Amino acid sequence: MKRQVISHIEANGPLRFDEFMEMCLYDPEAGFYGAGGVRPGEQADFVTSPEVSPWFGRLLGRWAAKLSGGNSLLVEAGAGSGSLLEPLVDEVGDRFAGVYALEISTAARETISRQLPGIVDVSRWDEVPRGGRGVVIANELLDNLPFRLLDRHGDDWIEYCVGAIDGTLTMEHRRDDELAAWSDREIGAVSPGCLMTAQVGVSRWVADVIGHFDEVHVCIVDYAATTDELAGRPRNDVVRTYYGHRTGFDFLANPGVTDITTDVNIDTVVRAARSCGATVTTTDQRSFLLDLGADSVLEELVDQGHERARAGDTMGQLVARSEATNLRALLDPGGLGGFTVFLIEKGT
Ligand SMILES: C[S@@+](CC[C@H](N)C(=O)[O-])C[C@H]1O[C@@H](n2cnc3c(N)ncnc32)[C@H](O)[C@@H]1O
Repeated sequence: MKRQVISHIEANGPLRFDEFMEMCLYDPEAGFYGAGGVRPGEQADFVTSPEVSPWFGRLLGRWAAKLSGGNSLLVEAGAGSGSLLEPLVDEVGDRFAGVYALEISTAARETISRQLPGIVDVSRWDEVPRGGRGVVIANELLDNLPFRLLDRHGDDWIEYCVGAIDGTLTMEHRRDDELAAWSDREIGAVSPGCLMTAQVGVSRWVADVIGHFDEVHVCIVDYAATTDELAGRPRNDVVRTYYGHRTGFDFLANPGVTDITTDVNIDTVVRAARSCGATVTTTDQRSFLLDLGADSVLEELVDQGHERARAGDTMGQLVARSEATNLRALLDPGGLGGFTVFLIEKGT
């Protein structure tokens, strides 16, 4: 992948950071997601809420089930290993006219179609029927959508691109009028010296999903922060990498080898949704799952553990206890429970 990136730069000039990310993550032959195995999972590079506990999918299923009816379609975008869809589909039963797994990775789509034969797996939005009513779920997808990288410099913006010098990838500066105008509008006047992401891809994704259906409910869950919070981040914590459950890999030295991600900009999502005429509310994962009944599930699991212990069923007790521990992890305010949930609605 490194050779491929360098030849591309030598032939075409420096790559914008979103173009670099697109190659590193989604190249079909060498990209982190585009090629190779299914990424989220205990054996892979990081775990996500649905990998931690099936209760994530079940509780989201309760949310989706309430919104079903009238020939609605259910879509999970960025479906990964299918670990969210499996319990979700058990929960919603046949309430939806069709269930789609939208996933860019071939390996992930193959796993989903093997394990969940009733689900239609697709790689692009234009394979999902347009119009009508849709319920869309995206967990930890938006943080992976390619973003541009820029520095606040006085009253202006300087963009970071990826160049190559003597076979080594380096960061280079340039100025781009269009990006500066976008950033003035969407990010505003943060302090000079702040390294910021311009999440143009997130903005486009939100608009595309809202525009895809006549009536739509979208639930986005991700690590996210406001522009003001992001402007306060140390520069070395803006672009994050994951590989083998560890973070901090040099993405320039290891293109295609590590995940590249960032906190989703809450203001970008909210502005994109509102500019399409949608309403948007935000909450955190803990509150969202508690509203869907996570607390009574937790009580039942704890009671079940006690019952099994009284019956001398040590294995049953351990199973109930570990299910409860995993569900608690989804609610942990300092971890997954602190993720942001965006609930977007249009035409309903
Ligand atoms: C961090 S993983 C999350 C997977 C899953 N949602 C979960 O929570 O375990 C992000 C997934 O989104 C997929 N992905 C990235 N960009 C995509 C896009 N534009 N359309 C569909 N899938 C995409 C990746 O291949 C990867 O499987």
